[in-house]
Amino acid sequence: MAIGFSETSMMLQLINQPAPEKMFHDHYAFYSSTSNYMARHFKDFADEVLQSGYLTIKDPFVLELGCNDGIMLRNFAEKGIRHLGIEPSLNVAAEANKHGVRILSEFFTEQLAESIVQEQGMVDAFLAANVMCHIPDIVGVVKGIRRVLKPTGVVMFEDPYLGDVVSKTSYDQIYDEHVFLFSALSIQYLFGLHGMDLIDVLPQKTHGGSMRYVLAHRGAYPVKNSVTELIARERAQGLDRLTTFKTFGANVEQSKRSLLILLKELKSQGKRVAGYGATSKSTTILNYCGIGLDLIEYISDTTPIKQGKFTPGMHIPVVPYETFKANPPDYAVLFAWNHAEEIMAKEKDFISAGGKWIVHVPEVRVL
Ligand code: SAH
Ligand code: TMP
Repeated sequence: MAIGFSETSMMLQLINQPAPEKMFHDHYAFYSSTSNYMARHFKDFADEVLQSGYLTIKDPFVLELGCNDGIMLRNFAEKGIRHLGIEPSLNVAAEANKHGVRILSEFFTEQLAESIVQEQGMVDAFLAANVMCHIPDIVGVVKGIRRVLKPTGVVMFEDPYLGDVVSKTSYDQIYDEHVFLFSALSIQYLFGLHGMDLIDVLPQKTHGGSMRYVLAHRGAYPVKNSVTELIARERAQGLDRLTTFKTFGANVEQSKRSLLILLKELKSQGKRVAGYGATSKSTTILNYCGIGLDLIEYISDTTPIKQGKFTPGMHIPVVPYETFKANPPDYAVLFAWNHAEEIMAKEKDFISAGGKWIVHVPEVRVL
């Protein structure tokens, strides 16, 4: 897997990505609602949209891209607000449907935007979380957004933030689904090419550091100071320059060396090490570092569809959470480090029984 950076578009992206149909289908493995913290986050997000003042008062229409199991849209459905979720993965879409969420099970494209406008009208708010960065034809998505959004409408979407990936060396955000890692610079450039303004940015704690971008048709709303300030910070951090990513690459190699030294040392001391959370991120770490069964005996995960399977490439067994509880290791590698707060609160017993966490961001260490 290789990544590239363009100093023109200031975009960091994968060079190759598998076909979307190979990743998003009727047995997509990620269910958003496995995290209680994320459920709260999306309830707050929905409330912020409703209180933002951007929606028309009479019969507002909200569209969400990649709504998954309805973690955010169920908050609109419960209030009887007109909404539509676009979700190509049938298994998670069915779950959303159970929560009263209206779904169109398709990939979002410019053509789909046209048919939504024809059949249901334009939208007040176009929402998305952790999905814009998944879509290789991002230009098609931006054109679709421009078509479907009312003249007074707003786009609000969030994704893992490039600034955090660079400052924390969290290279595990780079995997097949994440074709892009966005910054305010790249989003402003991309949407600017299509007549849209970045009007606000709101940093988020989720997924190890995310950014929420607010956009609108050009001139519809003033650009907030938050945008100008973040753009200046990004230039100071070097997110507009290739050299920054060369340094990032060297930091990634150092992170790999440190993790391997630690795991091999623990192995030589006869310690048992397991993984916590069979995340997509862990697939990058395991394969890039070459960590297999010799160093990690299993990875536990609460998602039923992941259990009883093996991690892609390194073939470490993914076991139910109950296995971790019944047979805890001496050390657990926190692959779901973005959920650290929630997990630490839940796993006090593991610590009091002498268990220890291994984290790799912002640097490899034992907690
Ligand atoms: N918004 C949720 C889910 C993120 S996972 C959350 O933040 O937790 C990404 C979701 O986007 C998956 O459910 C996937 O099926 C969906 N998706 C992928 N490509 C898409 C596309 N082109 N259009 C709409 N949804 C897409
Ligand atoms: P994510 O990092 O992409 O959100 O995926 C988190 C994964 O970790 C998901 O497969 C569910 C799993 N998980 C647990 O096993 N236990 C937990 O307490 C949490 C929050 C997540």
